[in-house]
Amino acid sequence: MKIKDAHELLSKYVTSNTLQRHCLTVSVVLKYWANLLGEPDCEFWESVGLLHDIDYEQFPNEHCKKAKEILEAEKTNYPDISNELIHAVQSHGWKICCDVAPVHIMEKILYTVDELTGLIFACAMARPSRSVMDLEVKSVMKKFKTPAFAAGCNREIITNGMELIKAEIPNIDNNEIIQRCILAMRTNAPLLGVGVV
Ligand SMILES: [Fe+2]
Repeated sequence: MKIKDAHELLSKYVTSNTLQRHCLTVSVVLKYWANLLGEPDCEFWESVGLLHDIDYEQFPNEHCKKAKEILEAEKTNYPDISNELIHAVQSHGWKICCDVAPVHIMEKILYTVDELTGLIFACAMARPSRSVMDLEVKSVMKKFKTPAFAAGCNREIITNGMELIKAEIPNIDNNEIIQRCILAMRTNAPLLGVGVV
């Protein structure tokens, strides 16, 4: 799916600046990972990231279930919405609000960075610079081990997600996964609200 279409579609269902920024952040991070892993269709990863919370503003209590209905219905307007895309979107709610498990490597990264980018964002906001440009992994790790900090970011999901990623990518560790997410957010930091303009 073209990222331009994904933006247009998201704007039909999400108006909150905070949620739009979160969707954009996850999109930017998935695009980074797609490039890193040499994926042929980076735009697909980017579009999944952008659309993963398409139902959350209107249907927070039916998250990931309504997403499937919305995306199925929008197939008439956007024929590029594939079953693969719908599966990916649903799988980020695995064991939280739906039973679709992440299978593809992209889905495992989405599952992880959905929470991890929130923690990194909070870490950046806690800095004098309010930026990811000078944020280091060790600072994120320290905050990761402080449950009261950004308590809404689910550490168990991040931990489980990183295990899923490590099973897919040889020789990667938690530090590198976090570092990659920081680097990804740096690629578009001002737009994501985490950079010195
Ligand atoms: Fe999300």
